[in-house]
Amino acid sequence: MSAIKSIRGTRDLLPPETAQWNFVEAAVRDVFRIYNFHEIRTPIIEDLQLFQRSVGEETDIVSKEMFAWEDRGRAESEKSGQWIALRPENTAGVVRAYIEHKMWERPGLQRLFYIGPQFRRERPQKGRYRQFYQIGAEVIGPPAAGSESPTVDAEVIEMLATLLDRVGISGWTLELNSVGCKDCRPAYNNALREALAGVIDKMCSDCQRRAVTNPLRVLDCKVPADQPIIAKLPVMLDYLDESCRIHFAKLQELLTTLSIDHVVNAQMVRGIDYYVKTAFEFTHGALGAQNAILGGGRYDGLSENLGGPPAPGIGFAIGEDRFVMARQQSGDTLTQPVDVYIAPLGEGMDREAALLARELRRHDVSAELGNEGFRLKKSLETASRIGARYALIVGENEVSSGEFALKNLGTGEQQKVPRRELAKIIQSSR
Ligand code: HAM
Repeated sequence: MSAIKSIRGTRDLLPPETAQWNFVEAAVRDVFRIYNFHEIRTPIIEDLQLFQRSVGEETDIVSKEMFAWEDRGRAESEKSGQWIALRPENTAGVVRAYIEHKMWERPGLQRLFYIGPQFRRERPQKGRYRQFYQIGAEVIGPPAAGSESPTVDAEVIEMLATLLDRVGISGWTLELNSVGCKDCRPAYNNALREALAGVIDKMCSDCQRRAVTNPLRVLDCKVPADQPIIAKLPVMLDYLDESCRIHFAKLQELLTTLSIDHVVNAQMVRGIDYYVKTAFEFTHGALGAQNAILGGGRYDGLSENLGGPPAPGIGFAIGEDRFVMARQQSGDTLTQPVDVYIAPLGEGMDREAALLARELRRHDVSAELGNEGFRLKKSLETASRIGARYALIVGENEVSSGEFALKNLGTGEQQKVPRRELAKIIQSSR
């Protein structure tokens, strides 16, 4: 029979790599704690409309990459025909939850973070998966709580710099842009349409459609032949109104004060419709073509689009898969060898070994149990193969005398150790 394989674009994360993931998640949770962010967990499935109305119908994410299906009710009486989607990102879900639970009634700004899987039907390649993981954060709240201020943007970006530092990723570049707001975007859209009018017949069919429906999305086009045309199109930065210009200038000033280097990339619009004003990406050289390690921006107006009250917000999502990859390039392997392999020698010794393992584990010594059916040679070979630091031999003589042979597998040295001192000696050489 043929073996069943994992689905294209998904993968199993196995030890020892999972240690990297756990390290990253523990480190970011710690950073979130000191910046006073709190965890939110939203469902992996949502109403498809949520993404159509937030991420946007003309984006690649919604128009090409969604996993969505029509849900059939189980009983006759149940309403059928609701379209359900696997979430391609988590900002929309967070804002939906903010509205659904009237979170604006809580004091101050909501400072939320999440860690979890997202789904996009992209062409899989290195650093790009159909099930991938994001570590994200959102700051959202009523304007009266200060949610529109560029100080929030600066704080979020500064937190990211701390996060990357904590996790041991250096050599990143912060690219920054302003994509305007609902007041200044229309004039830019007109300028874009005008500029596109003369060249659009030379562009791909997606661009031809987007030039009419949502011209900003033309800038996301990845078709190589369209790139020279896109490079010559007008940029939003030249069309910002007064308030967007001031917001952007203040943000840059704050980042400079905080010594966070950044470059302005006027071409970067990010492939999601909800962004206004600030848009940013951190890129990393070690990642190759999929070099965006994280992306984010401001989404004032999104709450209203989803039926909520005004709730300006800003956030980001780190691609955790790429994060771990960038860390691995730095050569840190984080392998944690097991402290001791307990080798029972002879009949009846499995029991004694289990008792010893229980004692040692209670003292925070990690232990793996052998089998009394193994000869000593096989036990010692197994202990070395699994990378244990010590082998502890448990035979009838050892049990009756209360002294055990402890072999350091690194140096080959063997010593007799009283039962009570085993944990201390094993721990002391970590
Ligand atoms: P995004 O740029 O679509 O933004 O995704 C954020 C990050 O997720 C990317 O920079 C990348 O590292 C990672 N990523 C995206 N697609 C894949 C994939 N197929 N495989 C592996 N990694 C991937 C958002 O999702 C926004 N929700 C971010 C945000 C939060 N904006 C405001 N708040």
